[in-house]
Amino acid sequence: MRQPLIAGNWKMNNTRAGAESLIQGVIEGSTGMTKTEIAVCVPFVFLELGQRLLSGTPIRLGAQNVSTEASGAYTGEISAAMLREFGCRYVICGHSERRQYYGETDAVVAKKLAMVVSSGMTPILCVGETLEQREQGVTETVIARQIDAIIEANGIDSIGQIEIAYEPVWAIGTGKTATPEQAQEVHAFIRRRIAAHGGAIAEKMRILYGGSVKPSNAADLLAMPDIDGGLIGGASLVAEEFLAICRAGE
Ligand code: G3H
Repeated sequence: MRQPLIAGNWKMNNTRAGAESLIQGVIEGSTGMTKTEIAVCVPFVFLELGQRLLSGTPIRLGAQNVSTEASGAYTGEISAAMLREFGCRYVICGHSERRQYYGETDAVVAKKLAMVVSSGMTPILCVGETLEQREQGVTETVIARQIDAIIEANGIDSIGQIEIAYEPVWAIGTGKTATPEQAQEVHAFIRRRIAAHGGAIAEKMRILYGGSVKPSNAADLLAMPDIDGGLIGGASLVAEEFLAICRAGE
């Protein structure tokens, strides 16, 4: 059995005071939840706050990006070792917003994954097709390319050290969720693709769904056999909504 993981991706939101009360709200509201693993991926500047508040709780801390480099003259970058020192367990890599707005290629994403793993954390690799690609019927081709690029760069064994999040770009922040069946179809494809590369890990690894997950649709998505959790954007900014989604995993 794969333990569900519900991870909040705050993106570039919140104030210091807001971050503090949101984390406190998640800590208090999740007491007694034992089945679901919960994580919050906060902006870099709130990592220290997160580390302090979450210490001693089962809630994991995560970051949303990382440098491809270990250290040195890379102005504005944050290394994996720094994230590790600030208590991060997870690092989101290759989110579609980074691919789209910051030109992250599959090769860059593969380097980031390797950095995160070698620093003792777990990357959450985001993959997903655009609306145009879905309409052209090339969803599986796009996802296969994104997954294969990682396997070719880092080896099949590296897949056992990551989480994957399937996030159809057309469902992110749009209120348009993939139906549970649409999401299940792609999750099952991802698992088959990894198995085809000889990855015995395919059955054990977690594949999360992201894209307009809300309290009202979380249970139906999580009930699908290959959906092992969620990467939650907008709804992770409101403690009650995020907690309701976490409860759907219980
Ligand atoms: O990483 C999270 C996703 O981009 C989903 O965002 O829940 O606001 O659609 P959303």
